Amino acid sequence: MHAHVDLGSVTVALLGPRRLTTTLRDTYQRAAAGVVEFDRPEDVSSRSLSGVGYAVIAVPETTDSADALDGADVWRGALATAGAALPVSVERVAERTRGSITLVGGGPGDPGLITAAGLHALAHADVIYADRLAPAVTDELAPGVRVVPVGKRPGHHPVPQSEIQTQMIEAALAGETVVRFKGGDPFVFGRGGEELLACREAGVDVHVIPGITSAVAVPENAGIPVTFRELSRSFTVVSGHDPLDENELEHLAGLSRSGATIVLLMGMATLPQTVSGLARHGLAGETPLAVLEKGFSPEERSTYTTLATAVVDAAAAGCASPAVTVIGPVVHALADGARPGSGVPASEMPTSDAPVSAASNGDTPDAGTPDPGREARS
Ligand SMILES: C[S@@+](CC[C@H](N)C(=O)[O-])C[C@H]1O[C@@H](n2cnc3c(N)ncnc32)[C@H](O)[C@@H]1O
Repeated sequence: MHAHVDLGSVTVALLGPRRLTTTLRDTYQRAAAGVVEFDRPEDVSSRSLSGVGYAVIAVPETTDSADALDGADVWRGALATAGAALPVSVERVAERTRGSITLVGGGPGDPGLITAAGLHALAHADVIYADRLAPAVTDELAPGVRVVPVGKRPGHHPVPQSEIQTQMIEAALAGETVVRFKGGDPFVFGRGGEELLACREAGVDVHVIPGITSAVAVPENAGIPVTFRELSRSFTVVSGHDPLDENELEHLAGLSRSGATIVLLMGMATLPQTVSGLARHGLAGETPLAVLEKGFSPEERSTYTTLATAVVDAAAAGCASPAVTVIGPVVHALADGARPGSGVPASEMPTSDAPVSAASNGDTPDAGTPDPGREARS
């Protein structure tokens, strides 16, 4: 088809292997056509063709004429079986031999915090496999892009990790430009490393675009700097997905006593084990602790407490995943100043001897014992 043709509101059915139809899709969409794609003749039916005004059968440019006709006949047969009397053309298409996969870090939830490189990758994707905590973006996407939600919730993984990898690798091998869109940074508890290895093993071109990690951005948004001169000159990011063992707890307590900030991700379900373990290994009960839920969303909320009172306060507040927990004196580092983000105003912040819970942000505390659930790994 010539790219200058304007197809207006016609919907075109593109019939053929995905590695061919993805190339045609771009051309037809530039001509303002609606596009539906079929890569299996058995999917062609009067229902799936509803609203279609024109069909294009894609055959590889390199195929000789007889094979091209044979290939096209299969699709003509499928159209006939579906009772579709459509104008049909056959187009020879250069095969996209190799697709690619780009792991894109989406940042902590605000679309404004996706990097420019990440947005560029999203805008050029044929298919996007999106995690639950990746920011919602629509305006930036190419028309016709397929968005496949593969997000996990605590205890609920509708698309298993191995299946996500299989699907995206198959799409890339079929010539598609694939984006794997993740919350935060792909390499911070995001399974980006293992996905990258799987892509390499399958011989697929793979790239990574970093994202802003929630481990730093969510505290920052709530007015907590993870380092602060004279209070903390290091920070440690820990996964609380599984309970920490005694060695880890002892090590963390030691780090914290020497001034390190502890940042816990996926730590709600294991908070009782974590705080009691840190206390057992000598961390002071009055050590400040903040639970920062759903950062960068309208429901974001900050609960300030201490190591000793964290379990009771988090339960009373009904704290739940996703949340970042910060332990250390930096929690109060900016207490006397203006607090950026929409956390609790400094003037309303509790001190460690007057811990609060949901009341700190005006929410009604949940009287029941919450079951925040184990947090899902990406
Ligand atoms: C599987 S980890 C992924 C971390 C991600 N790769 C990153 O760099 O931020 C998911 C955990 O990150 C934290 N998290 C991510 N986004 C968050 C947000 N907007 N607010 C609070 N916690 C968040 C929570 O601890 C959540 O359970």
